[in-house]
Amino acid sequence: MWRRAASLSPLLSPSKSSLLHQGLCRLTFWGAFTTDIMHPAKGGIASKEKLPFITFVLGGPGSGKGTQCAKIVETFGYIHLSAGDLLRKEIASNSENGAMILDTIKEGKIVPSGITVKLIQKEIESSDNYKFLIDGFPRCEENRIAFEQIIGMEPNNVLFFDCPEDEMVKRVLSRNEGRVDDNIDTIKKRLKVFSALNLPVIKHYTEKGKVYKVNAVGSADEVFEQVRPIFTEFWMD
Ligand code: ADP
Ligand code: C5P
Ligand code: MG
Repeated sequence: MWRRAASLSPLLSPSKSSLLHQGLCRLTFWGAFTTDIMHPAKGGIASKEKLPFITFVLGGPGSGKGTQCAKIVETFGYIHLSAGDLLRKEIASNSENGAMILDTIKEGKIVPSGITVKLIQKEIESSDNYKFLIDGFPRCEENRIAFEQIIGMEPNNVLFFDCPEDEMVKRVLSRNEGRVDDNIDTIKKRLKVFSALNLPVIKHYTEKGKVYKVNAVGSADEVFEQVRPIFTEFWMD
């Protein structure tokens, strides 16, 4: 079942609802570290003063993930980690994997999970913040499992921007950022990869009750009005 902002504690008054939700989120947050896979390696993330509070941000190419993440950062003070941006930085810095990453992105395929997870891990470990939006990740079950094994935790929740394909194609083709993959041939491949590999990840987290589904159609401000109550309800201090 999808979780929606409107269904968060709908029967309680705002003050009681918010207190109860804070309590529930605290339980969920600490409870998350009692399951079998929750054994972060010593040092790194495990040594941080506060364990990270992680939201995966998913949706097809052009569904508006990056646009909404910028608004969440501005309003709620999260750190935005875009997996795609981290990979493009690797290409730009001429790292040893740069050429392979570029070829993979041009083909709309998925970069080996170990590379992407380590880039994300480095960012989490070096940040003073503890609230992270991880955008465009996990793209496939292999990404998801690698994250859970290397980082040693699951996301606290998942935001899914649901957008029709024709709208995504229109947005990507007018993005105008000079990206090597924003052309119609690569977009078609990326949409296929999204349906085949990313939807199963969304299904997995839906079954765990972690997914908040947002209708991505409408102006960016209209979409954010669906996102805002979700983040208002998350536990933060
Ligand atoms: P993603 O990160 O999911 O690939 P982006 O946030 O980069 O998507 O958005 C893709 C393009 O669509 C960008 O040019 C962006 O300005 C535009 N865009 C984002 N959200 C909306 C929206 N709600 N309506 C119309 N255009 C949008
Ligand atoms: O999310 P974004 O659209 O920026 O991703 C661009 C490309 O980066 C993807 O199509 C894919 O080739 C690569 N990528 C990846 N693994 C991820 C995220 C992005 O291989 N987890
Ligand atoms: Mg993006």
